[in-house]
Amino acid sequence: MVAKNHQTTTKFCKMMPLKIFIWALLLKLALLTAGDFTYNGFKDASLSLDGLATLTSDGLLRLTNSSSHKQGHAFATLPLQFKKSSMDKVISFSTTFVFAIVPEYPTFGNSGFAFVLSPSIHFSQALPTYYLGLFNTTNNGNQSNHIFALEFDTILNPEIGDINDNHVGIDINGCISNKSEPAGFTSDDDGQFKNLRLLSGEPMQVWIEYDGTNMQLNATLSPLWTSKPKNALLSSTINLSTIILDHMYVGFSAATGVGYSYHYILGWSFKTDGKVPELNISSLPRLPRALTSFKEKPKAISIWLPLSLSVLVLMTAASAKIIMVRKKRFLELREDWEQDFELHRLSYKQLYKATRGFKDEYLLGIGGFGRVYRGVLPDSKVEVAIKKVSHESRQCVREFVAEIVSLGKLQHRNLVPLLGYCRRKGELILVYEYMPNRSLDKSLFGEGKSILGWSQRFWIIKGVASGLLYMHEDWERVVIHRDIKASNVLLDGGMNGRLGDFGLARLYDHGGVPKTTHLAGTVGYLAPELSRTCRVTTSSDVFAYGVFLLEVACGRRPIELEKPENQQVLLDWVFANLRRGTILETRDQRLGEDYVAEELELVLKLGLLCTHPSPTARPSMRQVTQLLHGDIPFPDLLLNQLCANDPASIEYEGFNAYVLSFPSLSSESFLSSRR
Ligand SMILES: *[C@@H]1O[C@H](CO)[C@@H](O)[C@H](O)[C@H]1NC(C)=O
Ligand SMILES: *[C@@H]1O[C@H](CO)[C@@H](O)[C@H](O)[C@H]1NC(C)=O
Ligand SMILES: *[C@@H]1O[C@H](CO)[C@@H](O)[C@H](O)[C@H]1NC(C)=O
Ligand SMILES: *[C@@H]1O[C@H](CO)[C@@H](O)[C@H](O)[C@H]1NC(C)=O
Repeated sequence: MVAKNHQTTTKFCKMMPLKIFIWALLLKLALLTAGDFTYNGFKDASLSLDGLATLTSDGLLRLTNSSSHKQGHAFATLPLQFKKSSMDKVISFSTTFVFAIVPEYPTFGNSGFAFVLSPSIHFSQALPTYYLGLFNTTNNGNQSNHIFALEFDTILNPEIGDINDNHVGIDINGCISNKSEPAGFTSDDDGQFKNLRLLSGEPMQVWIEYDGTNMQLNATLSPLWTSKPKNALLSSTINLSTIILDHMYVGFSAATGVGYSYHYILGWSFKTDGKVPELNISSLPRLPRALTSFKEKPKAISIWLPLSLSVLVLMTAASAKIIMVRKKRFLELREDWEQDFELHRLSYKQLYKATRGFKDEYLLGIGGFGRVYRGVLPDSKVEVAIKKVSHESRQCVREFVAEIVSLGKLQHRNLVPLLGYCRRKGELILVYEYMPNRSLDKSLFGEGKSILGWSQRFWIIKGVASGLLYMHEDWERVVIHRDIKASNVLLDGGMNGRLGDFGLARLYDHGGVPKTTHLAGTVGYLAPELSRTCRVTTSSDVFAYGVFLLEVACGRRPIELEKPENQQVLLDWVFANLRRGTILETRDQRLGEDYVAEELELVLKLGLLCTHPSPTARPSMRQVTQLLHGDIPFPDLLLNQLCANDPASIEYEGFNAYVLSFPSLSSESFLSSRR
């Protein structure tokens, strides 16, 4: 087929009059060098769009709309040439564009967007939220992505090293930024740095310049109508020649999260090998007015009817309307199969009252699963945390509700009790007991407040281990948590650590919720075998628990990119210190002298043992509990073995096999622990 086509084209070429041939040649030349374009508005633009992206009738490029957990892409239709030959340096390029992000809630970010250079425009495997519609859990960070992006991120995700919820970052091949800065600009007038709020809904202009010879990348941000500030916001020397291929597509990618933002591009100009033409700011399309308040003010009606009559009519209509609105407001979804769960059902009206209509001031936070509100149930006066999870498919919801209700029977002092659920169209509402001391990460990393002492931390660590042991081994069936981390550990009135959100990760497995970051847990806590097998096991929970131990003892997140390079990955850093015999140095320095050296060392070493690269070498939760309580000696030899070898190169025997081969270590409890 191909050969035949080739033949016909050659024949055609021979027959082609010279004029057409030259035309074709010129056209081809033009395509290869068409590194320039300027769009002052996108009315006549030719772009490849997908997902939520669309061109509005006003000539705006709108990358996302009010759909949550979705993405949109817009790229120049043809790839541009970025190298003269594949071995050569990257051709310099520069671009400028004007954007505006109009959020649902001005105070909560919902992901963001990025300017992108990519070898392909097919992103069907990519995830929204902080993967920005560019990456997913398996290819994030992979060098074969060949993606360069400048992200404008409005979510603070400390797990991927975000510095705040309003930043600009350089992303190479993954969503963990190489370098990022809070959004803003240095004023040319007074030399002061001025913050810019990306979520303000105001248009802002960006300039990106890359000098291929000096390998210098500058990115500059400023409010619209301000001339380009002299100082770049981000300036970095970066060799893009292995990242950028000969031909790359240029464009934008945007994603929404639990909530949404409208991401608009108003104008865009791009040029390779030269200075980018400036945009004509005054001819850019206008943003739609009053985007956030969609309700138009009612038009004044002049009433000529007798006043009494019109008042009567209006009152009847109004009360009918009120009744209808009320009915709709409290409308629930109930299906036959739910009869089995009737006991666990709470009415929407109750929950609505508990939160005064899900008012923003009752919002505790927005997490990967949805919004969480605080409330007081009107009848029982019980304080609750109400989690709203939106979902798409109906099929899987049935399975999920069955699952979650059965998990509601899990009763343990270290688990957050589920009190009930409610269902509306496309929405599942879970009601948990309210935990007055919020989540552990807030106490660990929160600023200002008095920090948690060592005895409190050790108590919480032991509590969480005991809750997890109950889930893994002591309940009627094995339950895997899938998302253990400090932010999923809540503190009750007695400062007991309690695991929350168990089972929620399942909903994602069943395909119920659009794919999100929580596909199989959280970056930084994922056991290495998960990227190969995607099968969660009790050992992958143990791995995450190990990271959690280090997090609590060291008082820092698993990945912190602002740290020096050898300290960025917590696990590697603690491990390196173990090798040097300085493991205690990794403790949270804010503890001061308040710690018990033996306990601290045990927790750090246990953290390393639990994150052993080989799942079978990790202890079970029963063994973890026994080690924490000093019921069995710590298997130092196993850790030394890990120390002495390159973890990736050796085959490990199982934890139990190891214990058996050292009779001095084997104790009743080790052997009896496997059920
Ligand atoms: C968002 O855009 C997509 C694609 O254009 C469309 O299918 C969807 O209905 C839109 N959603 C909303 C809520 O407007
Ligand atoms: C990166 O992606 C390539 C191609 O998809 C794959 O073959 C390779 O195994 C990936 N590398 C890593 C470290 O995941
Ligand atoms: C980046 O900024 C620096 C300092 O302002 C300047 O010297 C350099 O020429 C700029 N590089 C590019 C590619 O614009
Ligand atoms: C940039 O990286 C490429 C590929 O690794 C290398 O060949 C080239 O020498 C580097 N350029 C400089 C100036 O270091």
